[in-house]
Amino acid sequence: MSLRGIILAGGLGKRLDPLTRITNKHLLPVYCKPMIYYPIQTLVDAGVRDILIVTGGNNAGDFLRLLGNGAEFGLKHINYTYQRGEGGIAEALNLAEHFAQNDKTVVILGDNLIEKSIKKYVEDFIKQGEGAKILLKKVLDPERFGVAEIKGDKIVKIEEKPKRPRSDLAVTGIYMYDPKVFEIIKTLKPSRRGELEITDVNNRYIEWGEMTFDVLDGWWTDCGTFDSLLRANKLVAKKADKADKLCES
Ligand code: G1P
Repeated sequence: MSLRGIILAGGLGKRLDPLTRITNKHLLPVYCKPMIYYPIQTLVDAGVRDILIVTGGNNAGDFLRLLGNGAEFGLKHINYTYQRGEGGIAEALNLAEHFAQNDKTVVILGDNLIEKSIKKYVEDFIKQGEGAKILLKKVLDPERFGVAEIKGDKIVKIEEKPKRPRSDLAVTGIYMYDPKVFEIIKTLKPSRRGELEITDVNNRYIEWGEMTFDVLDGWWTDCGTFDSLLRANKLVAKKADKADKLCES
């Protein structure tokens, strides 16, 4: 079974206004590269070669101008699709159904940056057979994220942006799914914020006893707020200092 990569890079990035007034959040700079470069590299480093970018808004064409067929990443081709409006992460993922066919998928949010490779988690997921896998990370501000409740060595529930988090383990925006994910999305109802929530998808796998998890090695950050975007810039700059190839032009 081959594995397909899906990068979700839609949305209006309202929390970053006015930075996102004339461009898409995922095209903003993070140190030496546009943000979208990092999740593409994460997938490529994990051995994923079939990649779809789901984008939206007024600047979708800029992704094609910037990335073309992905030659800079050693790719032969990149697939693109368009999300109208802001229906949430699960709605964006649903647009990838035709691309995923009957393969397993690795989904990554376009503003999620990490320090190290996810290759070992992806390999474990391929071996896992049915179900899904998520990657968790200990954070200081869990109320900003989906938060995992763990009992023993099992994940029992995820709460989306809880006021009183039951742990400090955030659900990162890196998700691995079997093809059943698209059946689940079709049964979802919009949440209070009017979106189809990826947390509802993940809770379904948990209820079925088909969700595995790992705690991600190395740093992780999103870039959805001014503070996290600044943090991402600093973390990437530090990484580039150690690995001089990262920022070669
Ligand atoms: C989304 C998910 C959340 C997850 C986060 C990771 O939140 O809903 O569960 O922890 O991404 O970046 P958003 O940033 O879209 O509000």
